[in-house]
Amino acid sequence: MNNTYIDACFRRPTEHTPIWIMRQAGRYMPQYQEVRGQVDFLTLCKTPELATKVTLLPIDLLNVDAAILFSDILIPLEPMGISVAFEDKVGPVLSAVQDETAIRALRRIEADEDTGFVMDAIRMIRKELEGRVPLIGFSGSPFTLATYAVEGGTTKSFHNIKGLLYSRPELADYLMDLLADVVINYLNAQVDAGAQAIQIFDTWGGILADPEYVRFSLKPVQKVIAHLKRDGIPVIYYLNNGAYLAHHMDGIDADVIGIDWRQDIGQARRTFGQRKAVQGNLDPTVLFASPQEVRLRAHRILEEAGPAPGHVFNLGHGILPQTPMDNAIALVEAVHEYRR
Ligand code: CP3
Repeated sequence: MNNTYIDACFRRPTEHTPIWIMRQAGRYMPQYQEVRGQVDFLTLCKTPELATKVTLLPIDLLNVDAAILFSDILIPLEPMGISVAFEDKVGPVLSAVQDETAIRALRRIEADEDTGFVMDAIRMIRKELEGRVPLIGFSGSPFTLATYAVEGGTTKSFHNIKGLLYSRPELADYLMDLLADVVINYLNAQVDAGAQAIQIFDTWGGILADPEYVRFSLKPVQKVIAHLKRDGIPVIYYLNNGAYLAHHMDGIDADVIGIDWRQDIGQARRTFGQRKAVQGNLDPTVLFASPQEVRLRAHRILEEAGPAPGHVFNLGHGILPQTPMDNAIALVEAVHEYRR
């Protein structure tokens, strides 16, 4: 059993620095495209046999040190009463929840019943993995989920969600608190089904000014973490675009903080990295350079992260669909071969 990932999350010494890649099972992989050619994305997420098959691809093809459940952060929004669709070239399209009536009509979910296919997939993946590497479960953060729910999809301006925060802060508090309850129920069901680590994706927390980040993103995340079943299960908080919020990370009760490439990993390790593991932080576009350059820049990050236990290598954000697969393989090799 390869336990380097869990060991690094808890800042125990490991023989090499473990690596996994956000969105490691995805469109850059011909083997993923083959499965996607048969079914649409939501069907793939809702069919445990197919989700299992796709989850295992990067374990076999890249040799990463952890598996991550193949699913999407938007999955628990559907049983709350929001329609969710994924359209090629557009991305997610949701029924936008923008007024008080719509927000108050959203329901709390019972994850075991409402998203049973996720729990079935987790049980099936654990069985297929046979202990080779640990399995990561995940959820979006309450604020990131609210962004999709209120905007109805991807946005550049974020004016609907920000408009809600500024014009109806108490209603926004209600929505974040409701989503925190949903995320708690959803993640604890994943732990019961067999998830061995939990990552919370805060993709959009980093669009907010500091006080709004604290009230609408950080506080609900704290509530989630305080209610998780986490005996032996590391909790990872990934914040995209959060360099200017780094001074808040020490106060978050997660085991690991995930950072992107805009933040200096050496500095992160010297500040909040004293008490928490740090995950990151290669720019995903480095994978469009030569394999030699990928190797060089991976080793530079390992150098800057330093010898203290508690570094999990990852990209700073998800791997891009146009990435050459050979460079993803070269990256994993470069991290595994590195010795001080
Ligand atoms: O990391 C993994 O391999 C596990 C699977 C996973 C997916 N999405 C699969 C996916 C995970 C952990 C996610 C999380 C997710 N989903 C986030 C948080 C992480 C981040 O990237 O910031 C967000 C914001 C989403 C929402 C989402 N899902 C968007 C905006 C899109 C469309 C944009 C895009 O990249 O195409 C998706 C679709 C999606 N989720 C795909 C995959 C593999 C592509 C779907 C396809 O096959 O067509």
